[in-house]
Amino acid sequence: MRIASPHAHAVVHLDAVAHNTALFAAATNAAVLAVVKADGFGHGAVRVAETALRSGATWLGVTTCAEALQLRAGGIDAPILSWMHSPLEDVEAALLAGVDLSVSSREHLRAVAATAARLGRTAEVHLKADTGLHRNGARPEEWRELVRLARELETGEHVRVRGVWSHLVSGAAGDANRRQVELFDEAVGVARAAGLRPRIRHLANSAAALGAPETHYELVRPGIGLYGVEPDPLRSRGLRGAMTLRARLILVKRVPAGSGVSYGHEYVTDRDTTLALVPLGYADGLPWAAAGQAEVSIAGRRYPVAGRIAMDQFVVDVGDAEPRIGDEVVVFGPGTGGEPTVADWAGWANTVPHEVITGIGPRVARHYERESAHV
Ligand SMILES: Cc1ncc(COP(=O)(O)O)c(C=O)c1O
Repeated sequence: MRIASPHAHAVVHLDAVAHNTALFAAATNAAVLAVVKADGFGHGAVRVAETALRSGATWLGVTTCAEALQLRAGGIDAPILSWMHSPLEDVEAALLAGVDLSVSSREHLRAVAATAARLGRTAEVHLKADTGLHRNGARPEEWRELVRLARELETGEHVRVRGVWSHLVSGAAGDANRRQVELFDEAVGVARAAGLRPRIRHLANSAAALGAPETHYELVRPGIGLYGVEPDPLRSRGLRGAMTLRARLILVKRVPAGSGVSYGHEYVTDRDTTLALVPLGYADGLPWAAAGQAEVSIAGRRYPVAGRIAMDQFVVDVGDAEPRIGDEVVVFGPGTGGEPTVADWAGWANTVPHEVITGIGPRVARHYERESAHV
């Protein structure tokens, strides 16, 4: 059971997800796989998936079978690729639900094939090559053996290689990308020489989907961009932020100059001032490390976060402004009203926007709104 805060919620702008998906679809001739892992980067996987599928995406991507099954349970019958598995894992339910699986090793391929044979099903697999990230994926030596085994299994009826894929180190156009494209093409060549005929090759994340057409092949896999974070912070592509995090002040107090605020008293007021208490903290995903630089917006004006962010609360120094209990604080949003964005918070905390947006916790209820319906 989720126990939602009565004082804070996140508004998910599905129109922004639609706009962003359409922007990715317009930027490529390839099909678009919407990455909705981690509960749609914290926005709600089913709602995001439905929106993305209506807006130009034809595939969905997740990391676990449970995430894929959640989409199926939500009534989604589009193709889904699930990509982070152990050979020890039971993939029966995923195969029965028609979920494509990524496979990085012979051991895993044998396990998937055995389950498919037991079920009398055909497993659709995407073989993953390691082209330099050195996480998942088969290294060149293993790749040769993996594609050979896959071809052998394809002659039976329980495995079909639908895709060959890899993941980029960054996606930003440049030499690292070029090297990965070369290695990927080599891996595809080796697969074809072994007799495989994968119909879908895919490599591109958000950055590459917008900036490196040579990585597009038959499918691109945007994640963070769907949620409105520009993959290249130096270049705006017109993506729109898909979440606004709001809270209501629960206490306002006047304090004299020289008052230390929050744990450790790292912030000391330099004048008589008004402090406002916001009931959100690092347990709700606000990065502790952002203190010292972070700001929030109240009634359209930015104010500094005063002192450390605690587990459940932080303090804002509003100077001589006179906010009231119940007034709304915008922690982050699309930025169109001058409020901070997810990218701002990531910069303040010296982390990536992915961490901020996926970290917004379960106490923060998600409200779904069309973007045009909120200010
Ligand atoms: C395998 C894979 N493909 C695509 C993506 C999307 O990347 P990005 O969020 O940078 O667009 C991710 C991660 O988010 C991923 O793990």
